[in-house]
Amino acid sequence: MSTIVSPSLLSANFGDLKTDLAMINQSKCEWLHIDVMDGVFVPNISFGFPVLKYVAELCEKKLDVHLMIVQPEKFIQEVKALGAYTMNVHFEACPHLHRVVQQIKEAGMKAGVTLNPATPVSMLADIIGDLDLVMLMSVNPGFGGQKFIPHTLEKVKELRALIERTGSKALIEVDGGVNRETGKQLVEAGVDVLVAGNAVFKAENPLEEIEFLNNL
Ligand code: DX5
Ligand code: ZN
Repeated sequence: MSTIVSPSLLSANFGDLKTDLAMINQSKCEWLHIDVMDGVFVPNISFGFPVLKYVAELCEKKLDVHLMIVQPEKFIQEVKALGAYTMNVHFEACPHLHRVVQQIKEAGMKAGVTLNPATPVSMLADIIGDLDLVMLMSVNPGFGGQKFIPHTLEKVKELRALIERTGSKALIEVDGGVNRETGKQLVEAGVDVLVAGNAVFKAENPLEEIEFLNNL
C-alpha cells in the first residue's frame, strides 16, 4: 500500500508558484498541504485566501488545508470555496471542537483535527469517531524546516491503537520535519499521510523525493 504524500506549499518558491505547482501536478503526490497562519495562534503569517484562490485554480491535487489560526470556524465557507478536500483545525484553537467538526462535514469537507506536540492523543477520546483525519504536529507549528520531535512516533502508535479500539475511520497524518528517514519510521508506526515541506521543495529532485515517500 502506498503512503499519501502531502507536500507543503510553505516551502515552495513564492516568486514562481506556477513552476512549483506544475511539478506538483506532474508528481505522484495525492494531496497538496496548505498552511494558513495568522500571527496569533502561531508566531508567523503565511498566505491567505486571495493567494490560495490562484493556487487552487492551478493545482490538480486534493487540497489539504491546515489552519493555524484562532477561531477557524469563521473561515469554513472560504475553505470550502477553494474546493478543499480536508480542513484541519487545531484542537488547541477550538473550545467547541465538536460543533466545528460537524460544521466542516456539513460543508462537504473531510474534518481533520490537529494536535500540537504537547497535546496528548487521549484528548481525542470523545471525538475520534467523528473525525476523518487526525494530524499530529511533529514540530511546533509556525515554520518549515524544523527538526522532527521523536516522541511523535509514540503518539502515532497510541493514536493507531485508539482508532482500532473505537473503530474510527480516521486517517493519521504527521506534519513537520518529515524526510526519508523519519518518514520511514512514521509509516512503520502506522501513519497514512506524510506532510513534507523542505524535504520535497528543497530537494535536488522533488519528483524523486515525492516518489520515495509515496513508496514507503
Ligand atoms: C509548520 C507547517 C508545516 C511545514 C512543514 O507549521 O504546518 O506544514 O510546512 O515543513 P517541513 O516539512 O519543512 O518541516
Ligand atoms: Zn502544516
